[in-house]
Amino acid sequence: MTILAEALLMLDNVTAGYGDAVVLNGVSLDIAEHGSLAVLGRNGVGKSTLMLTIMGFTQMRGGRVFWRGADISRQPPHWRAKSGIGWVAQEREIFPSLSVEENLTVAATAGEWTLEAIYRMFPRLRERRSNMGNQLSGGEQQMLAIARALMTNPSLLLLDEPFEGLAPVIVEELIGAVSQMLASRKLAIVLVEQHTDIALELTAGALVLERGAVMHRAPSAELLQDTATLERYVGLRVAAEH
Ligand SMILES: Nc1ncnc2c1ncn2[C@@H]1O[C@H](COP(=O)(O)OP(=O)(O)O)[C@@H](O)[C@H]1O
Ligand SMILES: [Mg+2]
Repeated sequence: MTILAEALLMLDNVTAGYGDAVVLNGVSLDIAEHGSLAVLGRNGVGKSTLMLTIMGFTQMRGGRVFWRGADISRQPPHWRAKSGIGWVAQEREIFPSLSVEENLTVAATAGEWTLEAIYRMFPRLRERRSNMGNQLSGGEQQMLAIARALMTNPSLLLLDEPFEGLAPVIVEELIGAVSQMLASRKLAIVLVEQHTDIALELTAGALVLERGAVMHRAPSAELLQDTATLERYVGLRVAAEH
């Protein structure tokens, strides 16, 4: 098998799940350094399981995961995190009894994402720096969860439905932040989203999951126009449809 020199992360025919339950079936994907990939699909198709598998939290039944060309299939989650894979869980697990600033500094590693850089990107977090995690709104918690992942200075950031259940004004702020991250070319992003049009506008490439398998793969701009595929596998009409 040839390994693409430019692939930051590659999944080769990965089958994985929880205990005896197989959820992902032969998933292959790759993402280049500074690349961006939208992962779309209906509820329950395995999007979060894919993120968990990249982090090493599921049981691999087949296939391999490569990071910068090295097989990391057997590496535990903490090893992957230390190696530069950042993950923001769908549940936004922030520390409720630590302040915003403590949440940010607890996992920090040296790099371009400093506290100051984070506060420039998320001015609300600077205003809230002394508030406890459990005193934040849902939107502020999501900003904090993303910011905390950035403080580890990852080369790849996995975002699992970051806009879910948030007010439009907060979603706009988060979209701006994700665009800035991608424009800065400091990291690659995998974005799991139900907001199909937002996800496709932010990313370069996209894949669609259906029952744990990749059903469709396309440049995001192309998929944005492909309403037949979107309606079939994602079930959401994009705002741009006419
Ligand atoms: N911890 C778990 N143990 C067993 N099955 C799970 C677990 N988490 C999710 N699943 C199952 O895996 C499938 C995919 O779930 P998930 O990856 O969360 O989908 P999505 O994120 O696309 O909504 C579902 O059938 C779900 O019930
Ligand atoms: Mg999910």
